[in-house]
Amino acid sequence: MLANSLIELDRDHYVHPVSAYRAHEAKGAMVLDSAKGMFIRDAQGRALLDAFAGLWCVNIGYGHESVVEAAAAQMRKLPYATGYFGFASEPTIRLAAKLAEIAPPGLSRVYFSQGGSDAIDSAIRFITHYYNAIGKPSKKQFIALQKGYHGSSSQGAGMTALPVFHRNFDLPNANQHHIASPYPYRNPAGADAASVIASSVQALRDKVAELGAENVAAFFCEPIQGSGGVIVPPVGWLKAMRETARELDILFLADEVITGFGRTGPMFACAAEGVTPDIMTVAKGLTAGYVPMGAVLMSEAIYAGIADGAAPEVMVGHGYTYSGHPVSAAVALEVIRLYENGILANGQKVGVQFEAGLARLASHPLVGDARARGMLGALELVSSKAGKTPFAPELKLSERLFARGYENGILFRAFADGTIGLAPALSCTADEMGELLRRLEKTLDDVLGQSEIRSAIA
Ligand SMILES: Cc1ncc(COP(=O)(O)O)c(C=O)c1O
Repeated sequence: MLANSLIELDRDHYVHPVSAYRAHEAKGAMVLDSAKGMFIRDAQGRALLDAFAGLWCVNIGYGHESVVEAAAAQMRKLPYATGYFGFASEPTIRLAAKLAEIAPPGLSRVYFSQGGSDAIDSAIRFITHYYNAIGKPSKKQFIALQKGYHGSSSQGAGMTALPVFHRNFDLPNANQHHIASPYPYRNPAGADAASVIASSVQALRDKVAELGAENVAAFFCEPIQGSGGVIVPPVGWLKAMRETARELDILFLADEVITGFGRTGPMFACAAEGVTPDIMTVAKGLTAGYVPMGAVLMSEAIYAGIADGAAPEVMVGHGYTYSGHPVSAAVALEVIRLYENGILANGQKVGVQFEAGLARLASHPLVGDARARGMLGALELVSSKAGKTPFAPELKLSERLFARGYENGILFRAFADGTIGLAPALSCTADEMGELLRRLEKTLDDVLGQSEIRSAIA
């Protein structure tokens, strides 16, 4: 009864993020009610194993009392403190220092945002300001990857290269360019590491040559492309791209909004390859989604370029009311403490089981490609393994997958192209991971059992 009236209110008033408005109204919201550990309960009381950590953010799992306590204590003591006019609060200062300590060496300066989109938007503003301040105002062109996602701010959505974020938004801007995704399964030059790395390095060189290095500001990439379908480049790719950017005299931004905080194993994906970007953006796992927060970490050189680009008293006009919110900072400090006190290590251990489980599912008749790094993975479903052919859109495979998964009590990301995205909490136990893999396989079997799908298979 209550759920029904909520669905009507939702239909009439709530504009959902990234959704098909009329289709959503027709279908109605699935109202979520509560959660504990790996499980979410919907308004009908159905328990769902969350294999996607909310939206790849609840890395510690649901219901950590110590996080709730950290937020409540900070709210009681000082629920808000501005960072304007020289003010600061203890948790925000401590968090900035903590991030500088755990980030790749050299990323010593931290600007706080509310999430990933405004972290990317802030980074673009800082880069623009930096080049103007150091007397290189022609460096205004930005390069990113096809299939990349860098949020949906006015600028960031143009760095994103997924069609729905551009359609009717007049994007990308004329100064935003994209090179091919490092997509081993579909790389025309071959899936082996050397070919994928060489293709990307060459594409970046070619694009910079075309635009003129003196005009190019930066290259942006996710270490693993999340919203583009969990595209896992080979080990060595990130380092090669970082080095190429340095050689070409352009800034290298690693967008670790998904990959940060243990998602791929180490605290940051950059650390696995000994990469220090010029700028790193984080969000999601920073607070494990318990409250909003993101951050831009930048090198001392960029900070100094901006700081020393004008007389000391001239303000840098960038900031938000909620930059460095003390409640979010207190939560982030506690979440990082939990990562460091076992959750990161648990994710590394269970990640081995997860990777092996997905690799085993590669032999399922529906699966063309299984890929994972740490607790981030995907199964790409195809109608012909030999031809790597996606299922025809009329079959609405992603809707079938999501619906069967829901019935089987598992939540995952069902991408429109028939890829299943997975990002379980790092706190997942071995038993829970076993259950996750069982429910996933049952969902694949159930969908394979549907006559339209069976007859579409070559
Ligand atoms: C790599 C990446 N960058 C930026 C964003 C945007 O973050 P937010 O949704 O917090 O604005 C996301 C969100 O999924 C992301 O995956």
